[in-house]
Amino acid sequence: MKPILFVIFGATGNLTYKKLLPALFRFYLQNYLPPVFFIVGIGRRDYTDDIFTEELISHMTLEGGEEDWQRFKKSIRYFKFDFGSDPEGFKRLGSFLASLPGAGEERDTLFYLATEPGFFPVIAHGLAMSKLVTKGDMSSKIIFEKPFGKNLQTAIEYNRSFNKLLDEKQIFRIDHYLGKEMIQNILTVRFTNTIFESIWDAGSIESVKILSLESEGVAERAGYYDKTGAFSDMVQNHLLQTLCLVAMEKPKDFSDDAIRGKKLDVLNRIRLGEEFLFGQYDGYLSENRIPPGSRTETMAAARMFVDTPRWQGVPFYVATGKKMGRKLIYVLITFKETASPGGIRPPKNKLKISVYPDEGIHLVFNGKARGLTNEIETVQMNYCRSCGVFGNTPEAYEKLLMDALHGDATLFTRWDEIEAQWRIAEKAEQAKESLLLLIYKDAKEVDRALFELWGEKIL
Ligand code: BG6
Repeated sequence: MKPILFVIFGATGNLTYKKLLPALFRFYLQNYLPPVFFIVGIGRRDYTDDIFTEELISHMTLEGGEEDWQRFKKSIRYFKFDFGSDPEGFKRLGSFLASLPGAGEERDTLFYLATEPGFFPVIAHGLAMSKLVTKGDMSSKIIFEKPFGKNLQTAIEYNRSFNKLLDEKQIFRIDHYLGKEMIQNILTVRFTNTIFESIWDAGSIESVKILSLESEGVAERAGYYDKTGAFSDMVQNHLLQTLCLVAMEKPKDFSDDAIRGKKLDVLNRIRLGEEFLFGQYDGYLSENRIPPGSRTETMAAARMFVDTPRWQGVPFYVATGKKMGRKLIYVLITFKETASPGGIRPPKNKLKISVYPDEGIHLVFNGKARGLTNEIETVQMNYCRSCGVFGNTPEAYEKLLMDALHGDATLFTRWDEIEAQWRIAEKAEQAKESLLLLIYKDAKEVDRALFELWGEKIL
């Protein structure tokens, strides 16, 4: 195997500690890494290699043993570089990377931009100018963390400038929800089961809910978060991508362009309903580095319609929020009521695709209650992927890093999808300007407000 180099810009942030390093360490434990590999963390802080690795380990739960970590950490380096204000630093970085063992051989380099999107152009430009990335040379690639741009305008500008520096095949716009096992499973469940495929439309489905709730607040990410808000942070990308997988037409095959083309068709047909709910958790204004009087939303909910023949009139409710008391992610499909003999109105069937904390599919349907009665009993059939192996399913980032290394872009977002997503976010931003912000203490309060809005229990 060729040597591999992972170079992370913005390496002293949460993403590196919580997702990227644990994913790379698991590659190591599973022998997916070549004998020669290096992880280079780039940041502005005055760290040494030792301080950086100490910092990493203090945030990680060691899965292997101490010995594994000691061996792994020999391949971790820290490179101090203020990339926002030191264009010459790219040359220093080049010399540093060239000094690492394995540099003389053919090697694959993956640059991961885990910074605020405002830094993307300067980094991409610096890498190209210092020949660390060469257009068309697939041995070096760049992963851009989301959000790609700060709004539609900046996303268009970034894309134009990156296309001059890089081949589209070298650009990986990450949406880590697409790497989650159960999100990928949506397509398999939909398109490989007659029982679901034949009822997947407005004739049978009453509504779709897509939820991602979190218990944590903004933590140390206030600087980024306050400029972004829940809609652009979560809905514009993760929840819209999930919606696309639920709503898209059947692709001709499972190739990246076939799937991304069908997702784009959905994005282009999304119509936002008129009511939104934007909220801010009580206490947000006292968080570190939040500007006084900020109106940034930490929860957002919207009702959307997909104007295709398949989905005429079916509401798609999407909701996300921080400090909601618990962390959960799921898609809930509610089927239409069926009229049974004697005018009985049995409870509606439901299909829940659970992404977190359990990974599974739960079908709620009706049966006869036991005994000398004709009463209806609602029962549940569970397919639970992770009940027995909780915590062992591949982390989304592992899958995505591996795919990017192999040049497989199926689970990354194509430029035209990003553009369509920003167009939707822009409409939501406009709506926000004229709306009151709900200051919420817990999820119950949010749910009550949503019920008032749509007459429907959402959370
Ligand atoms: C990130 C957002 O993309 O997703 C964060 O920027 C959010 O604000 C995170 O906390 C949630 O990801 P997950 O995988 O924990 O649901």
